[in-house]
Amino acid sequence: MFITFEGMDGSGKSTQIRLLAEKLTALGREPLTIREPGGTPLSEEIRQVLLAHRKGSVSLTAEVLLFFAARAQLVDEVILPRLEKGDIVIADRFVESSFAYQGYGKGMEMGFLKTLARQVTRNLVPDVTFYLDINLEGSLSRQDSRGTRDRLESMDPETWNRIRDGYHDLIQAHPERWVVINAGDTVGHIHHQIWTELEHRLSV
Ligand code: TYD
Repeated sequence: MFITFEGMDGSGKSTQIRLLAEKLTALGREPLTIREPGGTPLSEEIRQVLLAHRKGSVSLTAEVLLFFAARAQLVDEVILPRLEKGDIVIADRFVESSFAYQGYGKGMEMGFLKTLARQVTRNLVPDVTFYLDINLEGSLSRQDSRGTRDRLESMDPETWNRIRDGYHDLIQAHPERWVVINAGDTVGHIHHQIWTELEHRLSV
């Protein structure tokens, strides 16, 4: 089973992924968790390249291709083999992050992104995608408490809103696969909602 998490920066994905993985592990499943970009030696190196050039000098096309290069390696080397073994794979971001951030947020042509996505994922579609929905104020205050506000400050509120609206468009296109969760809820309640959703899909 392939589970993905999406949401704006500071929406609390990593905490929820950790709790979900712990729960599955306690039940004897051995979930694999991965984060994008990253998850293989090559993909982690590409992540470093993207982080090192965050302040500007990467063109949008180069940025898109780097994200997809990291993802291509991750899909072939890790995700597909693990899914073929029947494992549970939990991904912190997948192609919808590129659609939302590079497409809706930065204006990359959506047709190009979709073509890349089909090729790179080999038509793999997540079984379920949890979207942690957060508003700009919530996101900023979480970033403050993590001391990582820099990244968001370099993104103007219009871009932020375009990305969030983009996510909402993507959800409307495939509502059956997405589970929208209010990220302002308590950590425990969010975890409970996620688990309730998954419980009937998994024979744990
Ligand atoms: P990361 O530190 O993993 O943040 P988070 O915990 O919020 O996921 O950094 C990932 C950043 O990269 C995040 O700002 C979203 C962005 N991103 C894209 O712009 N496009 C993509 O395809 C992916 C996977 C991430």
